[in-house]
Amino acid sequence: MSEVATYQLLDGKRCSEAVRADIAKGAVEVKSKRGRPPHLAAVLVGNDGASKTYVESKVKACEEVGFRSTLVRLPETITEEELLHRIASMNADPDLDGFIVQLPLPSHIDEERVTLAIAAHKDVDGFHPENIGRMVLGLDGYLPATPAGIVELLRHYRIETAGKHCVVIGRSHIVGTPMSILMSRNRYPGNCTVTLAHSRTQDLPAITIQADILIVAIGKPEFVTADMVKPGAVVVDVGIHRITDTAKKSGYRLVGDVRFDEVAPKCSWIAPVPGGVGPMTITSLLLNTLKAAKGG
Ligand code: GUN
Repeated sequence: MSEVATYQLLDGKRCSEAVRADIAKGAVEVKSKRGRPPHLAAVLVGNDGASKTYVESKVKACEEVGFRSTLVRLPETITEEELLHRIASMNADPDLDGFIVQLPLPSHIDEERVTLAIAAHKDVDGFHPENIGRMVLGLDGYLPATPAGIVELLRHYRIETAGKHCVVIGRSHIVGTPMSILMSRNRYPGNCTVTLAHSRTQDLPAITIQADILIVAIGKPEFVTADMVKPGAVVVDVGIHRITDTAKKSGYRLVGDVRFDEVAPKCSWIAPVPGGVGPMTITSLLLNTLKAAKGG
């Protein structure tokens, strides 16, 4: 008997549309109270194609919800001191509610120094140690955009999380590590038993097969295959990669860290790539910026 696909999509595009409609109302309220809409700036250093695409999507999303946005393009050759100087002036600018510095940065710039230089109250990426510390302690602050977007997606589709085994693959500061913390918190979505797997994990398939909720942020195209996934699992794919595909007019197609075609039929829910986590990440950034504009 052939396998019948019964999975449902964690549709980040649809979920984002609903949340962004509320954000747009919030922007109108801010404008009427403060005389100007929420204002986000995005700093892009150099010419990395993927980073340019991401930053442009963030700026476009701002326009769509009625925010003001500023794209600050800086040359690849900028010194660390010059960049820190720009950050100091953005920290002090009362017309700017929040800003982000798109990562990765050129190798001659220390990302840690840059992250630390951004004032915590303008850190709408949620990368500053103060905001990370607040997240760990369950205090109010800015949550990192991708994990916050995933949490929102799970909430939107009312995915049961309490008592479930959540396996996160990847321990980056931006996604894997904060994701593991959010899923273990004593609230909904959360209350999971969390395993954080990474490059030194032994026998990864033996761990992922136990996951009720599998969150994949390893950065390797189509890494997770059907044999690694428990039947009925909820799978969230954070990866996004361009793969050469001569059958496409563009010459490429987008894939995630999960081999969607073979994994999806085993899932109860799965976030597709594109259209899953990506739009939710930008929506979280907008939510953080709205919060900053309202006074944090
Ligand atoms: N690079 C990849 N993801 C992100 C993100 O969420 N924010 C920033 N600033 N850089 C990134």
